[in-house]
Amino acid sequence: MRVNGMLIAIDGTAGTGKSSVGKAVAAKLGYGFLSTGEMYRALAYKVFEKHIEPEDHDAVLAAARQLHFTFVRQPDASLKMYVDGEYLGGKLHLEEVGNVASRVSTNGEARRVLTEKMRDVGEDGGIVMEGRDVGTVVFPDAEMKFYLDASAEERAKRRFKQLKEAGEHADYNEILKSIQERDYRDSHRAVSPLKPAEDAVIIDTSALNLQQVTAAVWEKIQHYAA
Ligand code: DC
Repeated sequence: MRVNGMLIAIDGTAGTGKSSVGKAVAAKLGYGFLSTGEMYRALAYKVFEKHIEPEDHDAVLAAARQLHFTFVRQPDASLKMYVDGEYLGGKLHLEEVGNVASRVSTNGEARRVLTEKMRDVGEDGGIVMEGRDVGTVVFPDAEMKFYLDASAEERAKRRFKQLKEAGEHADYNEILKSIQERDYRDSHRAVSPLKPAEDAVIIDTSALNLQQVTAAVWEKIQHYAA
């Protein structure tokens, strides 16, 4: 065990509820919660802002090296992320930023830079980290590893509902296409492709709601801790 407790990795495809489940479990344990995708999104945001081509290897790497992150624990367990002293909030969740994040995350050297920053945050434990490669690359020695998945159609349906509820424009077919493209890129990139760790607990969330997924994860954690 680490100084502050376990390091729990929750990986999987986008739209499987990793963040909500991770936050709920972290709150129950009194742990912090970090979404590593936010760090890729922060890099994407800077790349976008500086008019860097996401495929420009050296410029993206330089931008990654320049990023300075600080994290402040919130009452809901999440770690609020400041990028170069600034809270970027909802800007990181624009569709465009997500797409650029998926593209810059194919840059192996930039990944190494961000991976080191993630290790700095998590090495003492007492944290739930959500992402794509937390259990395989960032912390292969994580005490517990989960991998959440769901069909692309189910995830597109969830995203569609979310956007509708927020009063935003939503086109189911466009969303499905974007999810399929992102999945393909994330799982076929040469460096750290999205795949479950050999020792991960795999949960298909297609037919489960958030409470049911949280309950399944929580049961495994209690089993482990017992
Ligand atoms: O989880 P998210 O949608 O916020 O992540 C945005 C992008 O970042 C996603 O397309 C893949 C990338 N990512 C990654 O490559 N490795 C991680 N550990 C987390 C995210």
